[in-house]
Amino acid sequence: MVSAESTTPVHDAAAGKAFYVTTPIYYVSAAPHIGNAYTSVAGDFLTRWHRQRQAPVWYLTGTDEHGEKVLRSAETAGKDPQSFTDELVASAWQPMLNTVDIANDDFIRTTQPRHVERVQRALTAFYERGDIYLGEFEGLYCVGCEEFKLPGDLEPGEGEYEGQMVCPMHGKPPKSVAEKNYFFKLSAYVDKLLAHYEANREFVVPESSYNEMVSFIKSDLRDLSISRTSFDWGIPLPWDPEHVCYVWFEALLNYTTAVGLFDEPGSEGAAKFAGTWPADVHLVGKDIARFHSVTWPAMLMSLGLDLPKQIFAHGWLLVGGKKMSKSKLTAISPNDITDVFGSDAYRYYFMRAITFGGDGSFSWEDLGARYNNDLANGLGNLASRNAAMIGKYFGGSLPAAGEATAAEAAVRELAEQSIAAAEAAIDRVALHEAVSSVWQMVDRANLYITEQAPWVLGKQADQLVDGSRLATVLVTVSESLRVIAVGLNALMPKVSAQLWESLGAPAALGSLAEQPIQTAAAWGRLPAGTPITKVNLFPRIDLAALEADEA
Ligand code: MSP
Repeated sequence: MVSAESTTPVHDAAAGKAFYVTTPIYYVSAAPHIGNAYTSVAGDFLTRWHRQRQAPVWYLTGTDEHGEKVLRSAETAGKDPQSFTDELVASAWQPMLNTVDIANDDFIRTTQPRHVERVQRALTAFYERGDIYLGEFEGLYCVGCEEFKLPGDLEPGEGEYEGQMVCPMHGKPPKSVAEKNYFFKLSAYVDKLLAHYEANREFVVPESSYNEMVSFIKSDLRDLSISRTSFDWGIPLPWDPEHVCYVWFEALLNYTTAVGLFDEPGSEGAAKFAGTWPADVHLVGKDIARFHSVTWPAMLMSLGLDLPKQIFAHGWLLVGGKKMSKSKLTAISPNDITDVFGSDAYRYYFMRAITFGGDGSFSWEDLGARYNNDLANGLGNLASRNAAMIGKYFGGSLPAAGEATAAEAAVRELAEQSIAAAEAAIDRVALHEAVSSVWQMVDRANLYITEQAPWVLGKQADQLVDGSRLATVLVTVSESLRVIAVGLNALMPKVSAQLWESLGAPAALGSLAEQPIQTAAAWGRLPAGTPITKVNLFPRIDLAALEADEA
């Protein structure tokens, strides 16, 4: 779990360098499920927030297309692996980004020449440095994980695998493999890795992952087998093309090949590399934290490159207490949810309901309840009531506020505090906390409306003028909504744009994207006379009718 105490932000935007965030590159063995989309949404929320700071950002995602797992899936589908991945990327993986509204800057596929060429350069560099040698290997390999397993990694099987030891993630026994492989000298980096961990306490977050990685590094770290000869769906090793590169070894390099690794000095790629690397945050699920926190830094040390500033290992979406997965057929597709609730509600739910860094169980009931309570009743109602009252009492034009009282001062103060708290939470990648901090404003504005009862004031004729108490109350709510729109733009871009529009803000203040989050809470920005128009941000959804449909 992410600690709630504030720590020094690790993500200081060094002059000119983009805030660089990555997701894992996804295996194109099947269509995406909400567990995969979870990492993408988290990265999108984080990067859109940094863009709202008006900072340069680079957000990379993509697909991992080589290796045995993808090859076997292609064979099962009766296709060659290249057409299989081409089709699946185009029909499922890229559309998933639209489904959940991801604004990535780049999408890398490991079958693209830009990746293949740069991986080969990197392989040559490891080889020339003496970090790769030829050896014999015998071990247990799980194709689902694309990883060799140690006996201690396995658990007793159930059902058809009763009596055998199986991979806990995939429920199947790993296969026994004996091959002549090339190895990467991972064990040579133990001391350097430990020193880096010691000096950078936030290199791996949350702390539980950090501790797990340190004990893993201390426990007899073995060299890594990095090539395969039993199939050819991969990148050939430049000095021995009978071997293809182990899928993880080339996949990790994507974070650098996508931004111009080892391009000629003076080239566009070299400039891109200087402007992005090292990455600020690699977002990964905890199941793949070891590869990112141990193998990857050792590879970078070998290449003489800077290490990423942070690896953030998030938890799992669980179904029936187990990790949701394609192979266990417990996968739910993001479309199933967005078709009913829309992409903004989707993003809100996953970022708010689950502590980022911990596991969480998805449930339709919980999602439906949050949609109606938080979104339709909470935010949606606030915006529509405010617009309706300004329409009724002031002809749809924002009045001029009168003198502020303690009640208005409290609303304003809370706006400042909640933006500041959200900013601090974002620096710790405590994404759920950032959402709840912004949401304090929604709750506070609703409470303020109830306390001030503008509908009662509206019955008095002398209130229907500039400077009245009624005018002050409605301006205060409108200002809160303006701050909320800026504060929620990273999380719910579509709805925030609608809200911005309904507040007449584009003409008065410019586009939502160009409102710096740091000064969003500065009060009194919407000028008197701004047209406020009706809006229905979250149409109510009849959950009982939905359930009846499902039955
Ligand atoms: N291809 C590798 C990553 C290589 S990165 C250099 C891979 N791909 S994956 O498709 O299996 O998983 C991609 C991401 O989805 C991982 O971060 C994984 O943790 C995440 N998730 C898969 N199932 C998940 C849940 N049920 N819940 C949350 N995230 C999950 O691993």
